[in-house]
Amino acid sequence: METSRTTSYPPLAEDLSVDVAVVGGGIAGLSTAWELGRTGRTVAVLEADRIAAGVSGYTTAKVTALHTLVYGRLRRRQGAEAAGLYARSQQAAVERVAEIVDTLGIDCDFERASAYTYATDPAAGPVLAAEAEAASAAGLPAAYVKHTGLPFPVHGAVRVDHQAQFHPRKYLLALAEDIRANGGSIFERTRITGLSEGTPCRITAESGRTVTARDVVVATHYPVFDRALLFTRLAPRRELVVAAPLSADQAPDGMYITEEEGKRSVRSAPLADGQRLLIVTGESFTPGTGDAGAGFQRLDAWMRERFPVGNTAYRWAAQDNDSTDHIPFVGPFHAAARHTYVATGFGGWGMSGGVLAGQLIADLVQGRAPAWAALYDPRRLKSILKEVPTLITQQAEVAKHFVGDRLRTTHVDSVAEVAPGEGAVVRLNGRTCAVYRDEEGSARAVSARCTHLGCLVSFNRGEKAWECPCHGSRFGVDGSVLQGPAVRPLEKIDIPASDSGRTAR
Ligand code: FES
Repeated sequence: METSRTTSYPPLAEDLSVDVAVVGGGIAGLSTAWELGRTGRTVAVLEADRIAAGVSGYTTAKVTALHTLVYGRLRRRQGAEAAGLYARSQQAAVERVAEIVDTLGIDCDFERASAYTYATDPAAGPVLAAEAEAASAAGLPAAYVKHTGLPFPVHGAVRVDHQAQFHPRKYLLALAEDIRANGGSIFERTRITGLSEGTPCRITAESGRTVTARDVVVATHYPVFDRALLFTRLAPRRELVVAAPLSADQAPDGMYITEEEGKRSVRSAPLADGQRLLIVTGESFTPGTGDAGAGFQRLDAWMRERFPVGNTAYRWAAQDNDSTDHIPFVGPFHAAARHTYVATGFGGWGMSGGVLAGQLIADLVQGRAPAWAALYDPRRLKSILKEVPTLITQQAEVAKHFVGDRLRTTHVDSVAEVAPGEGAVVRLNGRTCAVYRDEEGSARAVSARCTHLGCLVSFNRGEKAWECPCHGSRFGVDGSVLQGPAVRPLEKIDIPASDSGRTAR
């Protein structure tokens, strides 16, 4: 976000009619709009905030087909053909990025690199060897190796060559400009709150303006409309990242991930003056159930023990949605959908997944179905049925928050107990409120009931945000929507002067 320009596309100011309306301006939405714009269709991208500034602006930006241990699992659960289709489609996305960078001449720090899934524990050796064999059988240039280029001992790793890394915003902002150059439109600060399916479809913005379109693509990360109960098959995860400079000659060459210690992921990006920025991620929690502060500290300590980095320059958090069968949902929105599509559930692999979604949905809109369309089809049942135990656990967790958090009516007894810089759920005049007190001592209250489906929000102290544990909606301390699926802000509530502790707002 700091090393790329800002954007200021206008909000939707009048009703519009286009061939394709894309809701969401992250990598999936922009890729879809770009692919369809190239077919001669008129496209409009409608983004609630700023394009490429949500999860796509805060990703670690590995563009790879090696997704930890996906190939062994896919082959076991869905067969060798499914593993092969996954590998081909993901590698095609990697190559599509390379092709677009080349065709448009985008200066976005695009670098080819090998991707590694490594382990330090000798017990993991057979699992990694099996994964290397499964990835290779699926068609990737994969091998089991002992040497990784990491500056600490590892027992072994799966290595897949010819993968890539880039600056996601530089890439996406160039894509957006090209969409406009081809006659498409980009609208920012345009939150879509209504979708009516038909011929044509119609979407409605918060402002009341409408867009009619033959086809509508919902690419809002977690879908803001849910016609196929996708929220029962998606689990949100908040993922923390730290980054620090190190000398370029001490930076590891590849992109790395391990499932040890919860998970750790490492790559480096170019910086000026012979330095690179080491980017480390891996601490995560379900939104609304964790505190980013402690996770950042653990991640920082892990990085410093292993790499000769300077001061930590950045800390940030992003959000991923895991599908129950670990395969994204890309395709028709629901069983009866004719002209509505969705792209979501990329796990931590939204760069290749988002580009893949763009190509796949563009094909579907044109009446073509690539060989892997069924693998990603949101209407798939076979693979989902195999994940029923995961689904039940996930929904039990949501039910626990829905019921349990309501019974636990207050987290503190009064507004006066909320310390500066803290937030807590408080009962006020019979209503359950989320109260935040700023560092100057002023308290403000909003309804603690999430505007998506009504679960109670919790405070994330490290990021100063209200988070919903059920499907991952996030709100600012003023109640504004930071992250869907919620599209409406938390209702503001006046704190009675007698309750405020100090100055009430
Ligand atoms: Fe679904 Fe809050 S995100 S109830």
